[in-house]
Amino acid sequence: MIKTRQLFDQETWTFTYLLFDDESKEAIFIDPVLEQMERDLSLIDRLNLKLIAVLETHVHADHVTSANEIRKITGVKVYYGSKSGIDCADVLLDDGDHVKIGNEFIIAIHTPGHTVGCTTYLVDNKLFTGDTLFIGGTGRTDFQGGSANSTYESCRKKLFTLPDDTLIYPAHNYKGLTISTVGEERKWNPNVGDGITKEKFIENEKNKNRPYPHRFDIAVPANMECGSDSPNK
Ligand SMILES: [Fe+2]
Repeated sequence: MIKTRQLFDQETWTFTYLLFDDESKEAIFIDPVLEQMERDLSLIDRLNLKLIAVLETHVHADHVTSANEIRKITGVKVYYGSKSGIDCADVLLDDGDHVKIGNEFIIAIHTPGHTVGCTTYLVDNKLFTGDTLFIGGTGRTDFQGGSANSTYESCRKKLFTLPDDTLIYPAHNYKGLTISTVGEERKWNPNVGDGITKEKFIENEKNKNRPYPHRFDIAVPANMECGSDSPNK
C-alpha cells in the first residue's frame, strides 16, 4: 500500500501530495508549490525517502510549481498529461498510462474540463483529482481550454464509476476540508452530484462570474515551462 502525506500551501490554498512506498522508499510529489520546496524536500530527507518523480495534475493558474527546481536539484523526471500542451515535461502521460512506484503503479486518468490536459492520478483506492473535482465543487471551466461539458463527463463517466469508498484528494480546499470519497461526491456534490443534469451543469458554469485569478499572468507562463520563473513574492 502506497502511503500518502497531504501538504498545504496557505497562500494559495493548494494541497501537494507526497506518495511513498515504505519498502523501496521510492517517493513521488503531486503538484508541489515553488514556495514550499524547502519544506517538501526536507520531508523527503526526514522520512529517508528517495524521490523518483514529480507529477502534475495540470498547468496551474494560481501558483508556480516547483517541478523544474526539484528536477534541477534531484534529477527526477517531471510528468504531465499528454494533452497539457507543454514542452518541458520529461514524460507525457496518456489516459491509462502507468507510473511505477515501488511494486505498485499510479494510473493516469485523462479528466479534461478545468483544462484540456487535466489528469487525475489513481493509486490503490486513492484519487488525486487536481482541479477536476473538489470536495463539494469542481474547478472553474472558463479559461485554459476549459469545458463544462468535459468536466461533467470526466466526473460522471470516469471518476464516479470508481467504488464509493475510493478516497478523493483534491488540489485545493478553501473551507478546511481535506479528503472526501467518490460516494460522498457522487451523492451530494452540488455541482456534479446525482440529480444534476449535464445541461444544468453547463448552464450553472456559464452563470458563474469567477474573478480573474490574481497570479494568472505569472503562474501560467511559468508553469508552461514547468515553473522556471521565480515566484511572485
Ligand atoms: Fe487549476
